Amino acid sequence: MKHITVLKGDGIGPEICLEVVRILDTLKLDLKFDLFEVGEACFEACGELIPSAVYDSIEKNKVVLKAPITTPIGKGFKSLNVQLRNKYQLYANIRPAKSMPNVITPFENIDIVTFRENTEDLYIGEETIIKENEEVHAIKKITRSASEKIIKAAFEYAITNDRKKITCVHKANILKLSDGLFLQIFNEIKVDYPSIEADSMIVDNVCMQLVMHPQRFDIMVMPNLYGDIVSDLTSGLIGGLGLLPSSNLGDDFALFEAVHGSAPDIAGQNKANPTALLLAACLMLDYLAYPKEANQIRDAIDDVLKEGSIRTQDVKGTATTTQFSDAIIARLHV
Ligand code: NAI
Repeated sequence: MKHITVLKGDGIGPEICLEVVRILDTLKLDLKFDLFEVGEACFEACGELIPSAVYDSIEKNKVVLKAPITTPIGKGFKSLNVQLRNKYQLYANIRPAKSMPNVITPFENIDIVTFRENTEDLYIGEETIIKENEEVHAIKKITRSASEKIIKAAFEYAITNDRKKITCVHKANILKLSDGLFLQIFNEIKVDYPSIEADSMIVDNVCMQLVMHPQRFDIMVMPNLYGDIVSDLTSGLIGGLGLLPSSNLGDDFALFEAVHGSAPDIAGQNKANPTALLLAACLMLDYLAYPKEANQIRDAIDDVLKEGSIRTQDVKGTATTTQFSDAIIARLHV
């Protein structure tokens, strides 16, 4: 039996996480979910954000399903998300945004996959105070090895998933050396994939084009910070953060999570939409070679949304997290 490390997270994390595990359990797969507390609640209880037993479990299981974790702004502890991505070298953050049935937005037929480099750029967190309260510098790190990995991962995904086009997103007009290197590597690698159309676009133009002509995008690949921001934008195109899953893949480990955070504004109210984490679990099932079961869940989500009466507040409904999950489970039993 394959064990999966499940991190319950903060805020809405435990609510959506337990529902997703309940849904997965109904499929009766050869999977065992090892649940752990991490984050703020854990820090208060045991003085550690991630207890060593969690690291042991991740290193044994190598596959993680993770609910969102709160990162306080300003001083305090470093982002646990960034720590996990670095520790396990999860270099490829893949965020597929696809229009969902009956979720009305001004945009139709969206099907965009963002490949976000996950281990460097401004997220290395190297900030220096030059003059207290007056001047701070932050380092933006771009390396050939990390850039090659994410760009190759995007092209390989395009080939495997029969996608047609990749857009490299950058700001090389201003950041001539750092983003210039990322763009240069993209232009080197694209030559090896003649069947995939490859172009590049400056990140500010990308944001405008995504809102004006989103159908012109297929796969986008970019450094860490732009990927963080632009993928949130793509979640807005399909109806909000409650719907966007992500994979964090490395050579040895894989972590699956929702793109959204711990949503403290609705935590503990049984209001959160579990779809993003559930779709992340589907990406995990694909990864674990359970594509049939992943698609069963995706079809169940589509059916519930098409039927329309049971939808959470973020997609203009009144259903609770539990009611939505019950409706998914009922579809899986049909
Ligand atoms: P957020 O994504 O938690 O919330 C933004 C807005 O979207 C809120 O109005 C929230 O209610 C709504 N929302 C998010 N997920 C939802 C869901 N599943 N169903 C319904 N509505 C949903 O972003 P925010 O408020 O900026 O961050 C809160 C905390 O989460 C911060 O500490 C941040 O650092 C952390 N965070 C953690 C992430 C992770 O663990 N991967 C990713 C992003 C943020």
